[in-house]
Amino acid sequence: MNIENLNDLFEDQLRDILYAEKKIVKAIAKMIKSANNPELKKSFTKHGVETLDQISKLEAVMTSLEMKVKTQKCEAIEGILKEADEIIASVKDPQVMDAALILAAQKVEHYEIATYGCLCAFAQQLGYSKQAKILMSILDQEKAADTHLSELAQEAPALNDMARAA
Ligand SMILES: [Fe+2]
Ligand SMILES: [Fe+2]
Repeated sequence: MNIENLNDLFEDQLRDILYAEKKIVKAIAKMIKSANNPELKKSFTKHGVETLDQISKLEAVMTSLEMKVKTQKCEAIEGILKEADEIIASVKDPQVMDAALILAAQKVEHYEIATYGCLCAFAQQLGYSKQAKILMSILDQEKAADTHLSELAQEAPALNDMARAA
């Protein structure tokens, strides 16, 4: 599809992030299984529920703009998640595993933050204030998830030490 204006770009990125969120739901399920630290498991579980809610919100935004609810392959998230899979498959030590999971999850969060930040700005510029508010609520969840992961990494120095020593 040709992108001729800001509205086209906005719709293109909505389909891209919807694809990404659907992939992320599956990735989080794997991360919950692989995590050892109970707080980390809890954090992934919470964000898994939020991610399902984000998918509904994105679909609602699309419907409200009379767009077809449709995804578009996001190569970036495919790459980020493929790398995460490879790391998970090659780590054996439980603490190093948790450190690797935090690393992988934060890469995902930063990708999401970049996309939702732009989507919010585009929605505002396009005069879609109701949709901008919904996208902002998702952006806030992504930022909170990222902050919590940083806190977990800092609160568990052993986790970081192990990762550094490995
Ligand atoms: Fe998300
Ligand atoms: Fe997220």
